[in-house]
Parts: sequence; structure tokens; C-alpha cells
Amino acid sequence: MARILLGVTGGIAAYKALDLVRLAMAAGHSVRVIQTEDSQRFVGGASFAALTGAPVLVDQWERDPARGVFPGQPAPEHDPISHLELVRNADCFVIAPATANTIAKLAHGLADNLLTNAALAASCPIVLAPAMNHQMWESEATQSNLALLRKRSITIVDPESGSLASLNEWGNGRLAAVSTILQAIEQIVPAADRPWDGRRVLITAGGTREPIDAVRFVGNRSSGRMGFALAQAALARGAEVTVIAANVDLPRDPLVKYVDVETAAQLEAAAREHFVNCHLLLMAAAVADFTARSPEAGKLKKQGREQLEVTLTATTDVLAALAQERRPGQLLVGFAAEHGAQSVALGAKKLASKGVDAVVVNDVSDPEIGFSSESNAVTIVTADGHQEVEKADKLTIADTILSAVDALSSHETAPSRDRS
Ligand code: CTP
Repeated sequence: MARILLGVTGGIAAYKALDLVRLAMAAGHSVRVIQTEDSQRFVGGASFAALTGAPVLVDQWERDPARGVFPGQPAPEHDPISHLELVRNADCFVIAPATANTIAKLAHGLADNLLTNAALAASCPIVLAPAMNHQMWESEATQSNLALLRKRSITIVDPESGSLASLNEWGNGRLAAVSTILQAIEQIVPAADRPWDGRRVLITAGGTREPIDAVRFVGNRSSGRMGFALAQAALARGAEVTVIAANVDLPRDPLVKYVDVETAAQLEAAAREHFVNCHLLLMAAAVADFTARSPEAGKLKKQGREQLEVTLTATTDVLAALAQERRPGQLLVGFAAEHGAQSVALGAKKLASKGVDAVVVNDVSDPEIGFSSESNAVTIVTADGHQEVEKADKLTIADTILSAVDALSSHETAPSRDRS
């Protein structure tokens, strides 16, 4: 585990720095954050402070209430100069997102705010993850500044191509995926503890769509956010992650393997194929319980109809079927969206009827959680009882679910760490 000093500068991608903090912390690192004043227009210091459990510094004249140490480190007796003490204690200084302006300042040794002062004083390795408009990225000035920085052994995590902040603009300049940034950091600093190294995790995410004709389907409101957060959390623990994504329109992580599916039958086929080799199945997808018996090959016409009847037939309960086929050491976790006061009892019933090791229940009667929301609150039901996990962002919930899986593995009599 390492002490990572994260500098956040003023670009729209500043919000992604929150995910980088979560991921780095989930991987066991400790993090302190300094921000430029402009970055606070995008994300407030309170968010970083809440996640890291440490004060966030912006002003170079400001006293550091934590006296320049990282969470868990003993504070010195004296009141040190913040930027000097922070970089002295850091194993790595990562600036993400790094704007063209900050890159230019770093290239030319300017020190006009806390972040650039800290960079100039840093003897630890520096990692820059630029993010900006593609024209700014491609400009000769930015590219020659980056060349200067590379010569000084500063690591640059190149941005990705994709849609940019300004409407209808597309190009190179999007902040690299946070897992890619963390990977670059971990190539430099002592890698975090990777307790799930060698463990293969299969996750289903999103919601299936059952066609009733060539253009219409019966679907559900699952966004795939919970499944994708589970993938990030498993990745942070060092697992090899495959996600079966049913109609998920969310950014992809280059370190995760994705299998895209549309229908329950396709999801079943993909799950059967990949389950055989996995150690843990996290079945977060909302799989249709029914599918149209005979979907129309063309488009159903309205003309001449007073009503339309579509006959639906039951699909396979994929989770229950895979639970029947499990080999020793494989763990299966189901997810149940339940409504109202009986949620936990219904979850406990599913634990037994599907033959799984845990069921993560969320009460969909609360409009503030679940489905497309960024946060969630769940109850993890196992044979030993249940654990309530209070409302938090989905990555934090995902990490708690994985800790519950760890507790299950340590109970297992079967060799759950079978790495065959
Ligand atoms: N599931 C599955 N295959 C299905 C339906 C559900 O594998 N055809 C899985 C889901 O991915 C989830 C768990 O079963 O992990 C619970 O899903 P849920 O829809 O809550 O359970 P059902 O058994 O379909 O019960 P309900 O009548 O409440 O919908």
C-alpha cells in the first residue's frame, strides 16, 4: 500500500478524481488531496475530505490541520509547511485531471499555487493524467510541454478518445479510465495488497430485453451501475473480472473483459460459458423472468387491432441453475430488488430457494436509491443473518459487498481459494 498525494486541477473531469480516490482506497492505499482554486468550481473539497477522511488543502498559505501527514501516520509535534511536508510523506504525487495550464506551469517550473509548489518540491515520482479539449491536447505548446516533462521522468497517462465536455465534440483528450491511472501509479509505488490476485470474478450487469417484434421489447429499468461498480471494486482487489453486460450504456474499463448480451437467453448462454472458470459469480443483472413465446419477425402493425395480446413464457432462472452446477469453492451472490417492509424476509427466501451464498437486497420502494441512481443502500443476507449497509455511493456499497464475500470465503470449508 502506498501514500498517494492527489492534485486535482480545474477541468470538467475533476469529478472523476472522486472515483480515483475511491478506487485507490479500495485497493488499500491512503490518499491526501490538494486542489487548485479553479477545480473547486467543479468539485468541492468536502467531497474529497469525506472520502479520504483527511483535510483537503487549496491555499498555499493555509495551515494543514493534519500537519502534512496521511491517514494512519503519526503527526509531527511542529506545524510544518504544508506543501513540503505532504510531498515528503507521499510515495507518489498524481495530478488528475491535469489541465493544459497546470502542465505548462509544471514544464516551466512555475509555482504560483499550492499544487504547483508541491510539484516543484516533490522528490517522489510524479504521475500526470491530462484531460482537456482535443485541440488544446494536440496544440504544439501542450505537446512540447509534455515532451519536457517526460524527459524529466514524469509519467504521463495519456488521455483517451471519445466524446468531450463541449457539446458534439469528439476527439482525444478525455481523462484516462481511473483504473488505468491507478495501474500507472502502481507500476511506480509499492503495489497495494492484492488479496484477490488470481481470483476470477464473473459479474452480470444491466437489464435484459425480450423482443416482442423487430423493434419493440419488454425490458426493465436496471442501468448496470451496481454491476459496473462491483467490477471496479473487484479490480481494485486484484481480481480478473469479466462482466456480462445486458444493454448497459456506461463507460467501459479497459482492464475488464465485457461480453455484451441483449436477451435473457443470451445472458444465460454467456453466463454458463464463463461460470465454469470463475471463483465468484455476482449476479447483479435484472434478468427477465418471462420472454415472448413467438416474437413477430417484422413489426407488429396497429391497424385493425383493438388490443394486443403477447404470450410470455418463463425463462430459466440462471442463478438457481448455475447454483446447481457449482463446483466446490465457487461462491454465488444474488441480487434482489424487493418492495417494502418484507424486503429482507423475501431476500432470505431467495437465498434458500436459489441455493446461493448471499443475496443483496435493495428496497426499490425508496425512490432515492437503486436503478439509475448513483447511490444505493442494501441489506446483505447470508445464512448467518443479515447486514444492513447504509446509503452510500455504489462503489462504496460494492466494496462492502466484496468484504462480505471475504467473510463468506473464510467460513467456507470447501477450498474457496481453489485457483485451478
Ligand atoms: N435471476 C436469474 N434468472 C432469472 C431471474 C433472476 O438469474 N430468470 C437472478 C437475478 O440476476 C438476481 C436474482 O436472480 O440475482 C434475483 O432476481 P429476482 O428477479 O429478484 O428474483 P426472482 O426469482 O425472479 O423473483 P421475483 O418474483 O421477485 O422477480
